[in-house]
Amino acid sequence: MKKNFIVAIDGYAGSGKSTIAKEVAKRLNFFYLDTGAMYRAITYKIIKERINYQNEEELKRLLKNIKINFKEEKGKIRVYLDSEDVTEKIREPEVEKLVSPISAIKIVREKLVKLQRNIARQKNIIAEGRDITSVVFPKADVKIFVDCQLKERAKRRFKEAKEKGYKIKFREVLKNLIIRDKIDQGRKYSPLRKTADSIYLDTTNLTIEEEVDLVKSLIEYLKGKR
Ligand code: DC
Repeated sequence: MKKNFIVAIDGYAGSGKSTIAKEVAKRLNFFYLDTGAMYRAITYKIIKERINYQNEEELKRLLKNIKINFKEEKGKIRVYLDSEDVTEKIREPEVEKLVSPISAIKIVREKLVKLQRNIARQKNIIAEGRDITSVVFPKADVKIFVDCQLKERAKRRFKEAKEKGYKIKFREVLKNLIIRDKIDQGRKYSPLRKTADSIYLDTTNLTIEEEVDLVKSLIEYLKGKR
């Protein structure tokens, strides 16, 4: 049997990695795996069930039976937690604030890495997150690290939040990103980092179309060589 093709993308919040991964996956007919959505889904469940996530026993119980699924509906990927559609809820500011500290917890990461590897079995996938190139799929066929200057990332996130109707100030978005970067890079387990074998892509001065084209061409080229 032919081995599946795995593209692993890591990068900062707001760097463009999700937009790139989603769009390239669509164009190449790959499965798009948004691992951030999985950390967000767990965070949403913790908030909803008022779990004290610092209590390991309570957290273990919550993680034991959690089910996270992605389903394509009308050309869009929807995120299901157990049987609830949480696609929009996991993007709300409450989740946004708590997701970084929760994703720094070892047992949360262990659970999700296992689920992510299971999802990737026998599928051509593009997975994006913070530890995809370093931990989840270190032997991926293509590994990319996406970077972008902080101010530009804040501008993109602020625009997205405004479009969704969230009342949030630019300053707050910027502050959240700085805090998020610090936690994601500084945590003990699977910190965000560029692995030596990842291709570095800075999107600060690129349009969405340009970055999508670049990554798509790169994957096609490397896939052709395999
Ligand atoms: O990509 P995102 O903004 O949806 O990610 C939300 C949070 O989840 C982010 O603060 C870091 C965490 N995350 C992670 O630790 N590991 C991943 N593979 C993906 C996301």
